[in-house]
Amino acid sequence: MSTDAIRVRAPGRVNLIGDHTDYTGGLVLPMTIDRWTVIEGERVDGAIELSSESEDEPLHVDLPVVDAAAIEPSWGRFVAGVAAEMGDDAHAVRGRVSTSIPIGAGLSSSAALEVAAALALGFEGTPTALAELCRRAEHRASGVPCGIMDQLCIAAGVRGHALLIDCATLSIDPVHIPDEVTVVVQFVEHRKLDGSEYATRVEECAAAEAIIGPLRMADPDLVDKIKDPLLRRRARHVVTENQRVRDFTGAMRAGAYVTAGHLMLRSHASLRDDFETSTPTMDAAVAAMAAIPGVYGARMTGGGFGGCVVGLVERGTPTPGWQVRPVDGARLMT
Ligand code: GLA
Repeated sequence: MSTDAIRVRAPGRVNLIGDHTDYTGGLVLPMTIDRWTVIEGERVDGAIELSSESEDEPLHVDLPVVDAAAIEPSWGRFVAGVAAEMGDDAHAVRGRVSTSIPIGAGLSSSAALEVAAALALGFEGTPTALAELCRRAEHRASGVPCGIMDQLCIAAGVRGHALLIDCATLSIDPVHIPDEVTVVVQFVEHRKLDGSEYATRVEECAAAEAIIGPLRMADPDLVDKIKDPLLRRRARHVVTENQRVRDFTGAMRAGAYVTAGHLMLRSHASLRDDFETSTPTMDAAVAAMAAIPGVYGARMTGGGFGGCVVGLVERGTPTPGWQVRPVDGARLMT
């Protein structure tokens, strides 16, 4: 390898509990998974040139990037968004992208690509700064006003742990995943909607906050003061989900896995009924997983409208899907 050779890998993530809370500064508990996006190549003068194992068309982007959202092929927008955010600090690279993260399954393949690209292009800074840059890159690339959960989990992952993230302060508290439990992920269906429904939820939460103030500070009594029934349900999901994240964390630390599993099921019901980000197929998959002896609990995970179910199971329990373990966050390897 020449001295300019680079090899970067960034894991995917699954969220154990705390969905649709990050963009209101709430609590989340995601963990990295042992599937990675890898960029291998070299730093060069000139343009970014990347081929991808999972895509037909290679990417060629001249620096500086002006309009990341207009880049073709579209997978390259995530890389271009990162380059645009890095400005003059972005080095050109030539190389290959490969991934073992299922694409479009709700396991943050796009966030992993952003984080890997930023490190490949020469980003230097803290995991938090890396995540903030990649979140802005995602906004530029896809127009989806995502929160920081995915990028921060991928940038800051700790082997053997989920991360309790306070999305208001960006503080990170690793929560050990003990050996007697296993996290399973089952892919159920491709997401049915683009970012539009996600953006609507972000707007609805902002509308609720305009009435009662920050949802991260609110309690259920305050939520009841919202007159509009739809906004009240959206706010109730966020406020109760924040509490479930706290309770789930306490249960995991106490080894109270039955309690933790119930909290996952209640989280799913809240996403289904109050936040309306599930689908009948996802609901059926959660119910089927939860009915298996040895499964403590299950829920949809991530943005919703399809994607994956995550389960917490007694070690050794056969279930559909695959067992995942939390790994270290993204790294520049060479
Ligand atoms: C997507 C977004 C995250 C988060 C989840 C829902 O994964 O990228 O920021 O909002 O949905 O919890």
